[in-house]
Amino acid sequence: MSCRGLFLTFEGPEGSGKTTQSALLARRLEDAGHRILAIREPGGTAVGEALRDVLLNHPGQPLDVRAETLIFAAARAQLVTEVLKPALDQGRIVLCDRFADSTLAYQGFGHRQDLSLLRPMIEYATGGLEPSLRIFLDIPPADGLARCRTEEHKDARNRLAHAGTREWNRMDALDLSFHQRVYEGYLELAGQDPERWLTVDAKEGPAAVHARIWDGVSVLLPNAAEAVV
Ligand code: TMP
Repeated sequence: MSCRGLFLTFEGPEGSGKTTQSALLARRLEDAGHRILAIREPGGTAVGEALRDVLLNHPGQPLDVRAETLIFAAARAQLVTEVLKPALDQGRIVLCDRFADSTLAYQGFGHRQDLSLLRPMIEYATGGLEPSLRIFLDIPPADGLARCRTEEHKDARNRLAHAGTREWNRMDALDLSFHQRVYEGYLELAGQDPERWLTVDAKEGPAAVHARIWDGVSVLLPNAAEAVV
């Protein structure tokens, strides 16, 4: 799928600072005169936000993992058609807080779903749309989860996140071994395809992490209008 814009995704474990870094990059790009769109997954559309609520706050019976995977995919399909593709076609820079690689990391590595089944499902849901660059905020899960529990992080999320985000959700509550598999999954995905991933040490402070991200993103900007995704 080809489009004119630039499609940047933020990926990483819980507490990696995606929301903060997405907001910092959005501000920097806007200050530099770029037209940007910042969205998050699951969500970004009315259907997507409703599905997000089902996924993250599902009461009663535990959600079957295949049902969970398909709901993430359904929210993504709606986002691609309704928001992402039109914005990229207009030549915008789209910053997305999580995208299909979260499904590979969480449902694939975390929940041990077969990657060879997930990949074609993702391609179907996205119509083949892939990020121009994935920004992986690399933080070991124990450190990230500890950060999630600090008041400072909760305040930052509440300030920066879109309306309705809860600072603690069902996914956060899964055990550490799950998050360790997710983290190792990210390392594997990013390691297999270093051209398409920008890996940033997220243990540093927000300004240092932002500087590294800017180094990786700013080189893509002169060609943003012609970028082929
Ligand atoms: P976040 O707002 O912290 O990013 O919360 C979203 C949660 O949903 C997070 O725990 C990761 C999870 N998730 C998946 O398991 N699969 C996916 O495909 C996506 C987009 C998110």
